[in-house]
Amino acid sequence: MHDTFKAIKISDHVYWVGAIDWSIRDFHGYMTKRGSTYNAYLILAEKATLMDTVRTPFRDEMMARIASVINPADIQYIISNHSEMDHSGCLPEVIDAVKPEKVYTSVMGAKTLKEIFHGDLPLIPLKDGDSLSLGNMTLSFLETRMLHWPDSMFSYLAEEQVLFSQDAFGMHLASSQRFDDEVDPAILRYEAATYFANILTPYAALITKLLARVTASGLNFKIIAPDHGPVWRTDIHGIVNRYAEWALQKPARKAVVLYGTMWHSTEKMALAITEGLLTGGMEVKLMSMDACHRSDVAFELLGAGALIVGSSTLNNHMLPGMADVLTYLRGLKPKNLLGAAFGSHGWSGEAPRQIEEMLADFRVELVGNPIQTRHVPDQGVLTQCCELGRLIAEKLRDKVGD
Ligand code: FEO
Repeated sequence: MHDTFKAIKISDHVYWVGAIDWSIRDFHGYMTKRGSTYNAYLILAEKATLMDTVRTPFRDEMMARIASVINPADIQYIISNHSEMDHSGCLPEVIDAVKPEKVYTSVMGAKTLKEIFHGDLPLIPLKDGDSLSLGNMTLSFLETRMLHWPDSMFSYLAEEQVLFSQDAFGMHLASSQRFDDEVDPAILRYEAATYFANILTPYAALITKLLARVTASGLNFKIIAPDHGPVWRTDIHGIVNRYAEWALQKPARKAVVLYGTMWHSTEKMALAITEGLLTGGMEVKLMSMDACHRSDVAFELLGAGALIVGSSTLNNHMLPGMADVLTYLRGLKPKNLLGAAFGSHGWSGEAPRQIEEMLADFRVELVGNPIQTRHVPDQGVLTQCCELGRLIAEKLRDKVGD
């Protein structure tokens, strides 16, 4: 084991021993343009405890960071807060290497890890509210089912007020900085919001309930240690409040117009709708799916109140890029959006109706009927598009107030 990698102290007895993935650019469809980290933590209690592990190819980096502060064979407990393989991938190998006394996870974590690794992992299930003595310190556990997997849980180290929050409050950001106050605030805010939009949007209602539970439990934390990105030691209230706000998905005076176009006819319609929205006083994000990524669309929708989608019709279907982004959004289920469909076609023109059906699937409130035209839109069609933009702006103003 080489000694290049070092552990980084995050509180008196807790060290970051994770790994930095500078190169990853795709996480199941979410474009991670700044890479990521897989955070594992070492608690130097009487019972030395490893909190989560890392993605398999980064095992040696994590073990080397551990070895910079203790002999890995001295780890007595391992806790798995989240079974997804970016945090558990090397768990069986780490268990083999350090031979801990005990390996703890949630009830659902034990089930999931068995389904992932099969064989006989020595897992001890923990229930919501359980505590575990580390000798001179105590961990307590809070189940956070479906945030964002059924197995997910938080661990809390009372003596040092550290909340190990697995994916929650995380972000995909590879950087040399380990703490929130060391990162450019604009990048921090953007990446935290992008992470929420792309990972947590489907579970927004559960987040609202979880934050209420955390408040009611009276837990005080001065550090939030997530499984990705920087450790929060400064803007704790800021990130918790932003989660509370994002989880509500309140509509705002902003519209996102997405389109795919073959010969710029659908694009002309998108521009006319955008002008109508602007005339109506809306902020607008116009996104050609030839130029934008689906995960940027998810980010833009986090603070929007309308989603208007257009596509040319190609061989009786919407363009592949539009099916891609709408399939992604249908999974994320953003809430409280007004919407509409539009598009140009040569002869059959199925795309706008197909778009409407997909928007209806995630309960977008449709305004009017789809606007369609053959080939290049004439002035009458463009005026109709502009009026649609104005109408959506008016309805959005009624919804969110002036
Ligand atoms: Fe970072 Fe859900 O794994």
